[in-house]
Amino acid sequence: MKENKIGVMGGLGHIGLIQAACLAKLGYKTTAYDIDLGRMKGLLQGRMPFQEPGLTELVMESLNNGLLKFTSRIKDLEEADIVFICVGTPSLSSGEADLSQVYSAVEKVARNRSNHCLAVVKSTVPVGTSRNLTQYLKEHKLSEKVTMVSNPEFLREGSGVTDFWEPARIVVGSEAEESAEKAAQIYAPPGVPVIKSSWENSELIKYASNAFLAAKISFINEIALLSEKVGADIRVISRGIGLDPRINPFFLEAGVGFSGPCLEKDLKSLIAQFQKVQRKANILESVFLVNEGQRKGMIHKLQEELGPLKGKRIGVLGMAFKEGTDDVRQSHSLPIVKHLLSLEAVVTVSDPWIKNPEQGGLSKSELPGVEWLSCPYEAAKGKDAVLILTAWQEYRELNLQKLKASMRNPLIVDGRNLFNVKDMEALKIKYLGVGI
Ligand SMILES: NC(=O)c1ccc[n+]([C@@H]2O[C@H](COP(=O)([O-])OP(=O)(O)OC[C@H]3O[C@@H](n4cnc5c(N)ncnc54)[C@H](O)[C@@H]3O)[C@@H](O)[C@H]2O)c1
Repeated sequence: MKENKIGVMGGLGHIGLIQAACLAKLGYKTTAYDIDLGRMKGLLQGRMPFQEPGLTELVMESLNNGLLKFTSRIKDLEEADIVFICVGTPSLSSGEADLSQVYSAVEKVARNRSNHCLAVVKSTVPVGTSRNLTQYLKEHKLSEKVTMVSNPEFLREGSGVTDFWEPARIVVGSEAEESAEKAAQIYAPPGVPVIKSSWENSELIKYASNAFLAAKISFINEIALLSEKVGADIRVISRGIGLDPRINPFFLEAGVGFSGPCLEKDLKSLIAQFQKVQRKANILESVFLVNEGQRKGMIHKLQEELGPLKGKRIGVLGMAFKEGTDDVRQSHSLPIVKHLLSLEAVVTVSDPWIKNPEQGGLSKSELPGVEWLSCPYEAAKGKDAVLILTAWQEYRELNLQKLKASMRNPLIVDGRNLFNVKDMEALKIKYLGVGI
């Protein structure tokens, strides 16, 4: 067992649980605290709060060997000399990040210990948060208890465990070299670049990274609009661009756009941070607008083929924001389904990992009248169109002949460009992708 003892605030969340399980695997005695008692109860009965490849095995192994413990008693974190803050930072209606969970978590840690610890913030927080939190702790006479360190998280849902073991870089922001060193040496694999810098640099690196990825997606989607009109194929264009090492092939797939718990919320928060200093984020605002346009584009394609969508039956394949996760938070599928409902379409949805709205954390009233099926062929049965929104492998492997046979009208609008136009033509399926 390693010397440092670790605490994780938000230990049942996507980031916190991966962090806790991987640190325990590294040999640290790790205590994961969370306020979600429902998730806590479920986990202690062996139910994972969400699906993430490789995570269940890690959690079970560390629970069995005693290195990992889950708790809803904050006092259990008193022993920890390093506490990772992994709580949520959702969007407020203004677009700014809601920091209430972060403040509450840090304050709770500080008030419930007699000795000092590092609070290492993995949550994505606006520039200035570590400094403001330090001031807050000072004003509340808690600065003896906690030193703030920024250590933004870059892992991706769906490959979170692998990303923990093989990070591209580790970024640590602090006011003191020894705090940065202590946080970095906890889990940095040998040879991985560690950027030790100021709080502000560290916090902005995270936002700039996510905004750049979002911009790449909106960029290729904008080129896709032209590509579609001039008879080009955006997939060939992406390959042609992406082979340039100055550009690289990642995040260059045209489609329905970016969504999920991070890119959109972080983009909104970054735009709000520009507004706070009376500057306009011209590029970032366009990135956001292009992304909104992609979602509307899916509906326009259906309307162009089917006319008014009132009473039209649409089968939507894919509710998760991307393949390899059962996370529906801020998924593009939700606003698209809601848009279809507002046009009085009759909607059936399907997702291989999310079998019902409850599993996606949705209430039935959120998507009124929507039928939820797990089988894609059933979801396509009797439909005027099928709309593909998530690039699940299961969808790539669909038997298209079987799918077509069950549909009322053989129309597929594909927001993920999973198929070849020629194959579809041969099957006499009307196929509309993005930029092809
Ligand atoms: N999900 C991702 O892919 C990802 C990637 C990189 C960074 N991030 C950032 O990491 C942070 C967490 O994201 P997430 O997706 O894990 O969120 P999440 O909602 O899955 O998890 C947050 C957890 O914090 C718990 N919590 C809330 N308030 C608490 C408190 N006061 N004390 C203890 N626990 C509390 C919640 O119950 C929940 O389990 C966010 O800032 C997010 O932007 C997320």
